[in-house]
Amino acid sequence: MSKKIAVILAAGEGTRMKSKKPKALAQVLFSPMIDWVIGAVKNSGIEDICVIKGFGAEYLDEHLGDSCKTALQTERLGTGHAVMQAADFIAQNGGDVIVLNGDAPFIDSDTIEKAHALHIEQGNAVTVISAQIDDPTGYGRIIRESDGSVSKIVEQRDATADELLVKEVNSGAYWFESGVLLTALKSLDIKRKNGENTKKEFYLTDALEEIKKSGLRAGSYTAQSSDIILGANDRVQLLELNELARKRELEKHMRAGVSVPCADGVVICPGAKIGADTVIMPNTTIKGDSQIGEGCIIGPSSLVEDSVIGNGVSFNSSVCYSSKILDGADIGPFVRVRPGSVIGARAHVGNFVEVKNSNIGDGTKISHLSYIGDSDLGTDINIGCGCATANYSGNKKSRTVIKDGAFIGCHTCLVAPVSIGENAYTAAGSTITEDVPDNALAVARSRQSVKANWVKVKQPYKRKV
Ligand code: UD1
Ligand code: MG
Repeated sequence: MSKKIAVILAAGEGTRMKSKKPKALAQVLFSPMIDWVIGAVKNSGIEDICVIKGFGAEYLDEHLGDSCKTALQTERLGTGHAVMQAADFIAQNGGDVIVLNGDAPFIDSDTIEKAHALHIEQGNAVTVISAQIDDPTGYGRIIRESDGSVSKIVEQRDATADELLVKEVNSGAYWFESGVLLTALKSLDIKRKNGENTKKEFYLTDALEEIKKSGLRAGSYTAQSSDIILGANDRVQLLELNELARKRELEKHMRAGVSVPCADGVVICPGAKIGADTVIMPNTTIKGDSQIGEGCIIGPSSLVEDSVIGNGVSFNSSVCYSSKILDGADIGPFVRVRPGSVIGARAHVGNFVEVKNSNIGDGTKISHLSYIGDSDLGTDINIGCGCATANYSGNKKSRTVIKDGAFIGCHTCLVAPVSIGENAYTAAGSTITEDVPDNALAVARSRQSVKANWVKVKQPYKRKV
């Protein structure tokens, strides 16, 4: 079987997006459209990918890093010209090459694979991926021969009245045999010099006719869902893509046993895993590489990003980034779990609590208005209201350790590095700067003194009591 490679076109500006960044970086469910396309390509087992960059190339470079090869198109002279920039990449790798638009996020690996299977089965030199749509306005029309092969692709602006009626349209994705594509690209150059197009561009679609001139076959694979052709030219259309993707993800999870009693503001990004009998409440976003167990209640008004949540967790009106929350924990309302934290089983955190880069043991309670940063807390600890770990000296972060069963009185300030022993107590209002041994009580505040009749002596103007 021949090698498979991909070229993704992403040099376009997308003027109507009114952005400094290229259109392919516009986001659908918080992922740039180009990542959707790259994901589909990789899922179909293709590793060698070349992205064509142009407008805002620096943003694409920064986003892609070393994950893909890129080629620069210095002038935007059309889709054919864009592919020409990848000529070296295609020549070096050979095999079968799929060319795709970087701004059509709903292409999927199944379509890519099935189109390739048809490409091989029919012995095509090029196989265009098409879709059937009711309103084909704006898309290139697929003109078929009587034997079912493709005669040509005509752009809207070049089409005859009859051709405009055709409802099978070009998705902008095609499989080519790489040698055939490279030869056809050279002919496109000549064609432009003759000025045959109504718009001065190198159309990749013209490659089909060039290929057919050599007696080779052009075929078409019609995708099962016409969503694969969808793109967005402005941010209003981008919202439509977001809505479509959002509904699709919600449906997938609901069919797998997740409850969404009201979908308002519920956004579950692709890649999230959610167990059965979990309820996702309104205004909740689940992003990145997140896993949520069974029987949880997540939301309302919550954000979970790149985090793992166990079974039976309640997570209300809170945010959690790159952290772990274990079975049966009760979080919220108004908790911020910052990266690198682990919250133990049956722990209770919130309301108004921030936890950062800390381990909280099983059954520990941090119930109100506290900050726990860079700390290691054991099991069954009670943290009173309004406690803080002073983890930052101004130039250095230090850790706080609190051992199993300790009781931290309200408004204790723990100046790190410091350690509180097992079952030890701190008195309310203490500022703890030294380690507290197991089973001890630390009182670190001045003793109360009461001055009798102080008001009568010092403030005689006060009303009589
Ligand atoms: C193209 C197809 C059309 C198809 C449609 C599907 C051609 C001539 N037409 O038209 O048949 O129905 O896609 O969406 O190919 N790009 C570059 N460099 C350029 C021009 C474009 O990289 O110089 C990139 C764009 O960033 C985009 C993709 O190529 O990702 C498609 O370009 P676009 O201008 O949107 O082509 P369409 O007019 O949509
Ligand atoms: Mg387009």
